[in-house]
Amino acid sequence: MFSKIRSLIFKIDPETAHNLAIKSLKLNLTPNFMNENKDDPMFKSTLFGKEIDNPFGMAAGFDKNAEVYNSLFKLGFGFVEVGTVTPLEQYGNPKPRVFRLVEDRALINRLGFNNLGAENISKRIRSNSNKGLLGINIGPNKDSRDRLNDYLIGLRTFHDIANYITINISSPNTENLRNFHDENKFSELMNSIQEEKVKLRSKIPIVVKISPDITEEQIGLISKVLLDYKVSAIIVSNTTSKNREKLNDILKHQKGGLSGKPLEEEANKLISKFYKLLKGKIEIIGVGGIDSGKSAHKKFLAGASYLQLYTGMVFQGPNIVGKIKKELKEILIADGVKNFKEIIGKKRAN
Ligand SMILES: Cc1cc2nc3c(=O)[nH]c(=O)nc-3n(C[C@H](O)[C@H](O)[C@H](O)COP(=O)(O)O)c2cc1C
Repeated sequence: MFSKIRSLIFKIDPETAHNLAIKSLKLNLTPNFMNENKDDPMFKSTLFGKEIDNPFGMAAGFDKNAEVYNSLFKLGFGFVEVGTVTPLEQYGNPKPRVFRLVEDRALINRLGFNNLGAENISKRIRSNSNKGLLGINIGPNKDSRDRLNDYLIGLRTFHDIANYITINISSPNTENLRNFHDENKFSELMNSIQEEKVKLRSKIPIVVKISPDITEEQIGLISKVLLDYKVSAIIVSNTTSKNREKLNDILKHQKGGLSGKPLEEEANKLISKFYKLLKGKIEIIGVGGIDSGKSAHKKFLAGASYLQLYTGMVFQGPNIVGKIKKELKEILIADGVKNFKEIIGKKRAN
């Protein structure tokens, strides 16, 4: 059904199309046939101590202002991450700022953390309790003089309403944000987060979302800090500023972060590297180019225990989670696998 209306949707500017998708989810206009069936028990899992029906989550950026998370659970997502939320409301970069690279099954975005701000979004979540596992992704305002403190404001605002909080240090669209990947700055940030948690007497699980554009050395140093501070999980990865050479679409040189298919392999390699270093002590949430059972299968083999997606839904529509579950189940059954957890990290070394 989505394939029929896709050509119409793709005539509309991507950000407008996204806003329409949010509106229709708000009004519950998306057909509910997708998730009539209960999830197969082979996909049951536990995330941060809470049971989830499946390990497929909606990635940050889709529901930036926490408007439709309960509708996303209805579509079949096992967990949803809203945000990125900054302390103060901000408009983001000038439009146009999202580009559809149809030939490459990819998007480039340079939104720049457009969102309604922590207070507004917190009120919204407090008045609409979540019917599934909800993560809140936090970041700093563009013009903030103290970015580290902005993360602490996010933590204070959301620690009692989220199931986990993601520290987003990896958007390419807020200048110099990725400096937090440097060892000293990263340790300082993790230390402050931990101290703030103690002050708040909070046990909220902390997740860190990283960039795919990091060096081998940074992978090692980041892993060490994650282990030192007993961070609950790492999300691998955000969009990439690289990988433009192999793209075909004429929009390939637009400035911003690239997501979707061209990110997939890069993200999978990075997941494998983190999996080796973290040795199962810290969960990996794999993101980047997931749009089928096969692509989900590859992410689990690389070492992810949970997955998230965004761009796949833009290209395949709201039925994508149902489709991934169906296809993955077929692959697992054909391989004699009874539960998806059996394949995590089982990729053979090349
Ligand atoms: C339009 C758009 C906006 C995004 N906004 C955010 C964001 O606010 N915060 C964040 O952590 N990631 C954001 N992302 C990154 C996604 O969460 C995800 O990490 C990335 O797109 C790779 O997954 P995908 O290939 O399935 O889209 C955004 C992605 C897109 C396409």
